[in-house]
Amino acid sequence: MAPIFSRFGSGILSLAGLVRSSKYAALRTISNSYSLPETHKMLQKTCREFAEKELQPVAAKFDKEHLYPKEQIKKLGELGLLAVTVPENAGGAGLDYLAYAIAMEEISRGCASCGVIMSVNNSLYLGAIQKFGTEEQKKKYLNPFVNGDRIGCFALSEPGNGSDAGAASTVANLDGDSWVLNGTKSWITSGYEADASVVFATTDKSKKHKGISCFIVPKPTAGLTLGKKEDKLGIRGSSTCNLIFEDCRIPKENLLGQQGEGFKIAMMSLDAGRIGIAGQALGIAQAALDCAVNYAAQRQAFGASILKLQAIQIKLAEMESKIEAARLLTWKAATLKDAGQKYTKEAAMAKLAASEAATFVSHQAIQILGGMGYISDMPAERHYRDARITEIYEGTSEIQKLVIAGNLIKEYGL
Ligand code: CAA
Repeated sequence: MAPIFSRFGSGILSLAGLVRSSKYAALRTISNSYSLPETHKMLQKTCREFAEKELQPVAAKFDKEHLYPKEQIKKLGELGLLAVTVPENAGGAGLDYLAYAIAMEEISRGCASCGVIMSVNNSLYLGAIQKFGTEEQKKKYLNPFVNGDRIGCFALSEPGNGSDAGAASTVANLDGDSWVLNGTKSWITSGYEADASVVFATTDKSKKHKGISCFIVPKPTAGLTLGKKEDKLGIRGSSTCNLIFEDCRIPKENLLGQQGEGFKIAMMSLDAGRIGIAGQALGIAQAALDCAVNYAAQRQAFGASILKLQAIQIKLAEMESKIEAARLLTWKAATLKDAGQKYTKEAAMAKLAASEAATFVSHQAIQILGGMGYISDMPAERHYRDARITEIYEGTSEIQKLVIAGNLIKEYGL
């Protein structure tokens, strides 16, 4: 890994003077429960300070007003956080997946909507092009997407299939020098703002998942329109919509990878994406725990701060333990990927554990805050709403369990 960060370094310097006083009444010092390399500790600190200063104060407004955090996404790009693992010579931060997981947690702790936009650009969009793109494709669709000037999205799900990703009914037919796409892709994070998408479509239905291919579709392109912006329970600062392809013509050279390789590209991208979503879920959980601890320290009942009550302490202990267990799984999955080892099962375990931790911890945070947890004056209810999607997108918890079990059985040689 590149020493931190010839490019990122300017980010650290410019962030050094940032806010010293946080809106969080009390924040623990950086986790010392795991010996992270110095570079990663610096990254964690930088991202934490950025999130406290630039994201946390505006996250509630983006949520309430369904506003896309345009300026903040641009700043994430300038810091290198939209292309964490893209090599420096291609304009990225040149860091590893452990760094990415850590950054995802810290950014999502400040704003979960920014977290998902960051995750999709990093691992699903850029990740696919970085691994499978030609030099020409990288010049056009990777390099301009690293610094926040442009962002990308990932179009796999359809109205009729989400979990069964191999059943894509969107078709792509070769016509002269063009591929012609027809069909609808749904639940597309950043679909509104994205300047390009990787899109999965079948080029040979008879071959089922082996007939799926992957394409890069710039936006705008004639024949590509957007569905309505979905009105979501959480992560309301990010947009979600359908991409509708009607005789949408793209150049032949926009095929990503080989014809018929699309399902593998989708699965490999999702393996990496699940590390990102695990990081996002950890950030949401940590933010909910911060909120609960600070509230409990101030709230008086039965003649003392409720932080002294065993009923509260037992909850806090369970919350902390679930977060730490999920964090270790996430960092393990990232470390395996960085070492070039198999990590499909570990990424699924990390996403499963972290998303369940986020839901549990944010639920308990509301319980600790009581009525104050149920109203939007406090962030606990937003964390609870934001947490819920992490159990659904990039593979539901049920799909993660199938992936874990499938890999486990293989490990037994059965
Ligand atoms: N890496 C590489 N190849 C893989 C793989 C992986 N992780 N997983 C499977 N494959 C390969 C298999 O080896 C197999 O290859 P062969 O045919 O050559 O043997 C092929 O893919 C088919 O594998 P399966 O038989 O296991 O496939 P399946 O049809 O049973 O489906 C599944 C497996 C795990 C259920 C898969 O469909 C899946 O992950 N579904 C969930 C999809 C998903 O996560 N959607 C999220 C949408 S994206 C999103 O949410 C983005 C957003 O905007 C936030």
